Amino acid sequence: MTPSPAANLVDWTLEASVVGSFTRIGYLVRRRLFDWAPLQSFGLDGKVAIVTGATSGLGRAAAESIAALGGHVCIVGRDPERTERARREISAATGSAVEADLADLSSLAETAALAARFAERHDRLDVLVLNAGALNHAYTVTDEGNETTLATHVLSQFLLTRALRPLLEASAPSRVIVVASGGMYTQPLDVDALDPEPAGYDGTKTYARCKRAEVVLAEEWTQHLLDTGVSVNAMHPGWADTPGLRTALPGFRRIIGPLLRTPEEGADTIVWLAAAPDAANLSGLFFLDRGARAKHRLRRTRRPDEAREAARLWQLCTERTAPFTAGADGSAD
Ligand SMILES: NC(=O)c1ccc[n+]([C@@H]2O[C@H](COP(=O)([O-])OP(=O)(O)OC[C@H]3O[C@@H](n4cnc5c(N)ncnc54)[C@H](OP(=O)(O)O)[C@@H]3O)[C@@H](O)[C@H]2O)c1
Repeated sequence: MTPSPAANLVDWTLEASVVGSFTRIGYLVRRRLFDWAPLQSFGLDGKVAIVTGATSGLGRAAAESIAALGGHVCIVGRDPERTERARREISAATGSAVEADLADLSSLAETAALAARFAERHDRLDVLVLNAGALNHAYTVTDEGNETTLATHVLSQFLLTRALRPLLEASAPSRVIVVASGGMYTQPLDVDALDPEPAGYDGTKTYARCKRAEVVLAEEWTQHLLDTGVSVNAMHPGWADTPGLRTALPGFRRIIGPLLRTPEEGADTIVWLAAAPDAANLSGLFFLDRGARAKHRLRRTRRPDEAREAARLWQLCTERTAPFTAGADGSAD
């Protein structure tokens, strides 16, 4: 059904307001305005999915919905107890067999090992949800020498997508969903700034820059995967009341409080991108509430040389992950 001009106007007004759009007001109004099909009306029978960061928050909600739609889900966590508890609870809630694997995704070695183990167990991958992440206020570097936010949000996602590409292609049409953030609207793509210095480290800015990079990588992957049947879209969940938000932004949570989305509301678009027929032929876009959104809201985040900078980002990811990709996918991409 084509939305009416009035519905589009209300949606546009919400989008312009930011707070109306990102809080649960946006979710509730758009659900009604566009008469959303319930997630339960989609099916994922026979499909295999990975959801990273599924021990809590959005990843947990997305994994449960995907399992409820009949998908075979492999959840990825880094803590054995939390991961096993989530696996058991999702399985009990949905009646589906749920698989779990462990990897600290700030480690590229662990990311590569995770992909290799998955490829040994499975010959298909229909849905890859790249969700794990956190906003860190302190500067830390991994044993492999990468700043932790860059490693977890950008490099690990790139490596996992690259390593699992043969399975995604073998299962085409298949879908990769990148859980980014509306925070990325505050930052341009700046590859040099993705490697911050410890002095004057700003965790919020670093997080937003990495989220911008995730959205650009979804576009880049779309170009590299043209004609393969693998789509790659980024989305943002709005503001959802999750353990991650509670830890990273307690003051913000106190102010926005009851207007925050539930994890299920924040995860709705993840599941829609994973399962809805309407999302099947879309790639390289940035979604909120089942709708493709602008990638820039501020003039200062646009760069005339964005294509060149995106190529530099691809190069950075390729170089940093190269030691961990031997035999991973055999392609030059
Ligand atoms: N909540 C929001 O309003 C909001 C807004 C914009 C974007 N996001 C994005 O949404 C995603 C999910 O966040 P959330 O709000 O649901 O937070 P959350 O409840 O803290 O969930 C984050 C998940 O990521 C996992 N994780 C973090 N670092 C990891 C690592 N190095 N290796 C493996 N797993 C790791 C966590 O595992 P542990 O259980 O081991 O910690 C947890 O399962 C993140 O990418 C976040 O940036 C959230």
